[in-house]
Amino acid sequence: MNNPNTVTTLINKTAEFDVAKIRADFPILNEKIHGKPLVYLDNAATAQKPSHVIEVLNDYYRETNSNIHRGVHTLSEKATAQYESARNKVKDFVNAESTKEIIFVRGTTDAINLVAQSFGRDTLKAGDEIIITELEHHSNIVPWQILSDQTGATLRYVPINDAGELILEEFEKLLNNKTRIVAVGHISNALGTINPIKTIIDKAHAVGAKVLVDGAQAVPHTRVDVKALDCDFYAFSGHKLFGPTGIGVLYGKEALLDAMPPYQGGGDMIQMVTMEKSTYNVLPYKFEAGTPHIAGVIGLGAAIDYVNELGLEAAAQYEIELLDYANEQATQVAGLNLVGTAKNKTSILSFTLDGIHPHDIGTILDGEGVAIRAGHHCAMPVMERFNVPATARASFAFYNTRQEVDALIQAIDKCQKVFN
Ligand code: ALA
Repeated sequence: MNNPNTVTTLINKTAEFDVAKIRADFPILNEKIHGKPLVYLDNAATAQKPSHVIEVLNDYYRETNSNIHRGVHTLSEKATAQYESARNKVKDFVNAESTKEIIFVRGTTDAINLVAQSFGRDTLKAGDEIIITELEHHSNIVPWQILSDQTGATLRYVPINDAGELILEEFEKLLNNKTRIVAVGHISNALGTINPIKTIIDKAHAVGAKVLVDGAQAVPHTRVDVKALDCDFYAFSGHKLFGPTGIGVLYGKEALLDAMPPYQGGGDMIQMVTMEKSTYNVLPYKFEAGTPHIAGVIGLGAAIDYVNELGLEAAAQYEIELLDYANEQATQVAGLNLVGTAKNKTSILSFTLDGIHPHDIGTILDGEGVAIRAGHHCAMPVMERFNVPATARASFAFYNTRQEVDALIQAIDKCQKVFN
């Protein structure tokens, strides 16, 4: 096993994918934790930021800071141009038809709540049905529970098998002409399962339902093409895509967004306000009430530039190989139980250790400089399905290395020695 305590052994260099060069883009990766090199394996919670994003944010606040869409002065025009240019980058990134289909929100959670409250509340009635799955993050469960309480619509769950894969035959049984909305995660944040969303979208459309895809965990690991998918809504967050926190995107088909009522009222989303009533702005501004997270949007644009330059396809391939290596190593550890063994999965190793609570695993690993998440991962129904209170979760990004996987395994070994 390599010694993870030197910079050179932290670095993997391949002809196709130069991890050493990529790591140099992420200043935080040089940090020491408890005197040991940081091994950051909590990328599913939030990814680290490259210098390019940090510098763009810094430059924005130093040189451009101003409100958008409101001023006639130079700085406001500059900020507006940068903000709208980022919208264009997002449009191209997900291959949307128009920038009218790109709504800036606080994050995936905000995007899903927007769809539930604006599209759902306007459309659903008692007797209608919403389908989600047992694999969802709470942000793709609770908004639909609230909506079903508000409208009387019934919420149904697609079950998962012991590997953590959706049981598609059960999904087909749930679909019927009362199904109005299907909301499904593209990639599970708790287990890493990649769901067959194209099949799900096509089957849902066949009964006339609309489909929302929670892409929070997918955009950093796979190329998303909303036109090819033909999804009605696609939601993701900037911070898991190497961009700032507090900013996210809702993609929606223009015709649907156009017909939906505003989600929040306030400045910028109006056309005219009188004391009697208001009329609303055109898309996408109708859904962007108040001063938005201008720096966040511009930072997200910078993150998209970064991953485009890097090449998401090559990064995804590298991550799959890294996960294979992590799986091989983890399966050799006696007393380690993998949770989530889907055939099609990426970037996540969720596990338990016999006799050791995941929170204790997290604490001991932190002492070794290894950052993982321990808990229910905001996916309590998944934990219930596997009959565990929590798991330890190592989640990878393209800047992680095999040597860091080795450091994880060494830290797990230490953890077992402490407890046994
Ligand atoms: N949803 C984030 C995670 O999976 C916070 O950790």
